[in-house]
Amino acid sequence: MKIAVYPGSFDPATYGHLDVIRRAAVSFDKVIVGVLHNSSKSPLFSVQERVNILEKATRDVPNVEVKPFEGLSVNLPRENHAQVIIRGLRAVTDFEYELQMAQTNRVLAPDVDTVFLTTSLEYAYLSSTILKEVAHFGGDLSKFAPAEITDAVIEKIRLTADKQISYCHIERTVTEIENKECIYYEAAE
Ligand code: PNS
Repeated sequence: MKIAVYPGSFDPATYGHLDVIRRAAVSFDKVIVGVLHNSSKSPLFSVQERVNILEKATRDVPNVEVKPFEGLSVNLPRENHAQVIIRGLRAVTDFEYELQMAQTNRVLAPDVDTVFLTTSLEYAYLSSTILKEVAHFGGDLSKFAPAEITDAVIEKIRLTADKQISYCHIERTVTEIENKECIYYEAAE
């Protein structure tokens, strides 16, 4: 059985990621999508939220499984009896980092190969960061990810902004620091 793992942050998954997952699922018997739990970053979504989002978005592909992981990416193929790590390659700008990562992983796990799938042209510009940037400014997200993902992004950004507003309210009333900057509080007024 040919098993591949596809590690990434997926914060959130885009059409580009989904394209790579679907195409990998054609070439491998099983594709395990590993969602990195990285405590040093502050992602928009928790690792479990990202797993849930990806599970929903890939529910029509029976040989795809989504799971969280921590630590090194090479642990994923080891723990799941996989021979291959999949990565998407969008442009030359990805190449240096991806090559270095593949070579490092090869040193750490010589029995595991990295296979690059070139991202479909229509998604070559796309990233989770671009999606979030456009979302923050209220732009149209429909070309970036399916509605179930973009709706989750919009809702999460709204909730995050609400939390910051109420935090600012508490800060003001409790500490009475009048000159404290409070962008979200001002914006809400
Ligand atoms: O979706 P991303 O953020 O491009 O994915 C990057 C990821 C998760 C594949 C990479 O950061 C990673 O493998 N992190 C785990 C730590 C690791 O294995 N580092 C060694 C390879 S350089």
